[in-house]
Amino acid sequence: DNVHYYDFVLRESNFTRLCSTKSMLTVNDSFPGPVIRVNKGDRVYVNVHNQGYYGVTIHWHGVKQPRNPWSDGPEYITQCPIEPGSNFTYEVIFSREEGTLWWHAHSDWTRATVHGAIVVYPAAGTTYPFPEPDGEEVLVLASWFEGDVYQLVQEALQTASETPQSDAYTINGQPGDFCSCSNGSTYRRLVDHGKTYILRVVNAVMNAELFFAIAQHNLTVVGMDGAYIKPIATSYIMISPGQSMDILVTANQSLGHYYMAARQYDNVDQNDNYDKINATAILQYRGNYTPPSSPSFPTNLPSYEDFSAATNFTQSLRSLANEEYPIDVPINITTRMYVTAVMNAIVYPNNLSNLASSLNNVSWANPTTDILLAYYRNMSGFYTTDFPDWPPAFFNFTGEDVESNVITSKGTKVKVVNYNEAVEIVFQGTTVYNAPEDHPMHLHGYSFYVVGMGYGNFDNETDPKGFNLVDPPELNTISIPKKGWLAVRFIANNPGVWFWHCHLDKHLSWGMETVFIVKNGDTPETSIRDPPTYLPPCRDSFDS
Ligand code: C2O
Ligand code: CU
Repeated sequence: DNVHYYDFVLRESNFTRLCSTKSMLTVNDSFPGPVIRVNKGDRVYVNVHNQGYYGVTIHWHGVKQPRNPWSDGPEYITQCPIEPGSNFTYEVIFSREEGTLWWHAHSDWTRATVHGAIVVYPAAGTTYPFPEPDGEEVLVLASWFEGDVYQLVQEALQTASETPQSDAYTINGQPGDFCSCSNGSTYRRLVDHGKTYILRVVNAVMNAELFFAIAQHNLTVVGMDGAYIKPIATSYIMISPGQSMDILVTANQSLGHYYMAARQYDNVDQNDNYDKINATAILQYRGNYTPPSSPSFPTNLPSYEDFSAATNFTQSLRSLANEEYPIDVPINITTRMYVTAVMNAIVYPNNLSNLASSLNNVSWANPTTDILLAYYRNMSGFYTTDFPDWPPAFFNFTGEDVESNVITSKGTKVKVVNYNEAVEIVFQGTTVYNAPEDHPMHLHGYSFYVVGMGYGNFDNETDPKGFNLVDPPELNTISIPKKGWLAVRFIANNPGVWFWHCHLDKHLSWGMETVFIVKNGDTPETSIRDPPTYLPPCRDSFDS
């Protein structure tokens, strides 16, 4: 088991896309940022030097960090921000995952430009559950904003307007041939005929799910969110923000140039101003041939509103669930929650209102000292433990718009569970505010088993009968389907303070998030580790 050291220097530098140049915050002046490559069982120390203008933190998305919430990263949940001019070293422990994951800033919307992939190879002496690929390609899908993201978001939140739309999507930092001033810089990958490549695809986009396909090439999805799955042979994928996939592709077509293309899957029916330009990169065969005047485009890339293409793909996910890769789905549930994801408004005493979103009608408010430190040191007054297990009122959640449920209020309410509880959460989508849409829910510190999903209101009598307890996929992010429900299960065997939230950043800004505090077990091996000797100070904590 090896130890690796990385230095991440966060600073502003200039980037030119879509015909204009702007200064933006990146890691080591690259967009996307550096790839972290490890073997399962390794440990990584990342020293983050903040040379930017604002406080920032980094999260290792999908890395479970057993007993080590200190290095998980979400701002005001497990740490206070690393202030400009200071640094903090994260210790990242890769003991449970294998495949593709990623890292990103976890402060406001800084992850738009501060993110990169993580590749976890099999532990020394072990192999993939499929033939060793001949080559690898990391593809990070992201959003491009022409303006300064930090300023755009602050403005939107203060004026109660919709948060900003991105101006393009990018593949490895480039929007591709269909965007203005972009076709000289389209990302290209050279391949050799007959070879098989493993694509490591990350959706780092801020606010949209994506379809992705490669012209004339079949995809075999073999892994997702840091775990292998039963291979899915497909001509396209649908990937939610936060998710990552391992995909095998064989370069078995005639020598030529082929587009790899990503397109927004927009399931919000009342909102038509989404970005309709496809992001592209080029798969280019090596060899002696006359290049085509233009690469071919993937005809199997589903259209923007292809709900069944999205659903069919998601429902085909299965874990390997065999002797070598066993699963551990909890059967006897000890903590059961039913959680609505709701779009709301907040009305303040001065009668100003603002957009909001919530879980069980609680819209999250960040504390001034992070929850982990407050919990670890028994400091009161920073959060309460009354996050509700049920919505405050039952109505036809996926029926017509129910105006009376629009109003919510802010709170810092967490859910406390005992060590080793068997947890089930059924997430219920709603049409409150007439805003049904997918919500990619992400849990820190764990992967969960996705045992069921369906449309309409969850029916406690009949729906559990259809749960897949045999080979449900083990993921860290999955969307609550629009006008539908989602059921996940996990064993609370990682003590700590773990954020869970919608991975659309607009909903995160509006409050669609909360925290699990998983208590310690009876032994030191089942308890949170001691904190590192240095933690970024909180303005309000006792010792700063
Ligand atoms: Cu991808 Cu809370 O994170
Ligand atoms: Cu959401």
